[in-house]
Amino acid sequence: MKTIITNIGLLVNVRDKNFLLRGKELSQLPCIQNAYLIIEDGKIADYGTMSNLPTYNNQLSTINANGATVFPCWCDSHTHLVFAASREEEFVDKIKGLSYADIAAKGGGILNSANKLNAMNEDELFNLALKRLNEVIQLGTGAVEIKSGYGLSVEGELKMLRVIKQLKEKSLIPIKATFLGAHAYPLQYKNDHEAYIKLIVDEMLPNIAKEKLADYIDCFCEQGFFSVDEMKRICEAGAKYNLKPKLHVNQLNSIGGIEAAIELNALSVDHLETMTDDEILKLSNSETIGTLLPTAAYFLRMQYPPARKLIDNNCAVALASDFNPGSSPSGNMNTVVSMSCIQMRMLPEEAINAATINGAYAMELENEVGSITIGKKANLIFTKPISSLAYLPYAFGNNLIDKVMIEGEFV
Ligand code: NIG
Ligand code: FE
Repeated sequence: MKTIITNIGLLVNVRDKNFLLRGKELSQLPCIQNAYLIIEDGKIADYGTMSNLPTYNNQLSTINANGATVFPCWCDSHTHLVFAASREEEFVDKIKGLSYADIAAKGGGILNSANKLNAMNEDELFNLALKRLNEVIQLGTGAVEIKSGYGLSVEGELKMLRVIKQLKEKSLIPIKATFLGAHAYPLQYKNDHEAYIKLIVDEMLPNIAKEKLADYIDCFCEQGFFSVDEMKRICEAGAKYNLKPKLHVNQLNSIGGIEAAIELNALSVDHLETMTDDEILKLSNSETIGTLLPTAAYFLRMQYPPARKLIDNNCAVALASDFNPGSSPSGNMNTVVSMSCIQMRMLPEEAINAATINGAYAMELENEVGSITIGKKANLIFTKPISSLAYLPYAFGNNLIDKVMIEGEFV
């Protein structure tokens, strides 16, 4: 089955070969004006300028893009979109002055979500997550990573990961699963961290591996959560099952997580609101991707990650939504891209690259999604008429998406 899309005003992020973009490379966004695109069996088969449109017979179905700008779908490489309930009561507490740490200390925050998740059955959890997933697909997300971490018990973590496995089977878009048992210490392990780490290493991990439930391992490395040494032990245990780390580090404090993550060959270090110059240098000299989550910093009223400094120092940067009930109750990647330009001074080209091709690398999906490349999935965003690429982040909060296509079909 072949489809040709004609009259594309601007075809964005066209690459015959892709590579992870770092530093200045992020500002190079190759585009074709007045383009056509051919899709075969859900994959990109060819593209070019309308003036070189190949002659084709009528059996090809034709879609006239009528001048729309066409992008590869967003690649959201960091979410927690499986959860039982929203937490707007904490949102109100925060407005009244409580900090993220105050709320966590009260047994709220992650532990609040864990209580609710453990009380919910797998089917109900799955239905809620599928609804969220379909909503973000409508907002242009064409590949996603989803973490566990609201179970914090053997059964709870396995339940969450089984939900993600079901989402993988039923979803239209590629999904990667990350095991985040080390998200917070449950109350009963508050004074016995050793016992909880043992639970992760001796019970959660072997069962997860047996059912092949995870692609990656994560740990919230932070004061009051998991120390650098604890993160190392957990990641080393995960490595025995070939789980590469993608890690929460430097959100609230810089405690040495970046250096350790690089030593652990982490695929990505995520958050980075607090970064020392030395850590920026170490990251730039590594293969590890820095994933920035600006909507979480916004929601928590925190400083934004130093995107400019990271890019100017040659780091590889990706953008993701962090969709979760506590720090980013939105999976809208359009907002993430806008906020990155407005608040972190990323150029529109840099933000679009970071949210597409580099996001794909941060999930090892770079051969499937993230750019207009022959052989990749035709997961595409068609915009409403826009005057230029920069209009997209500029006109924040406006819904500029006209249609979303997944594997060659409009959804
Ligand atoms: O990425 N920082 C740790 N984890 C999540 C928040 C989880 C929650 O508050 O429920 C984050 O921001
Ligand atoms: Fe997160």
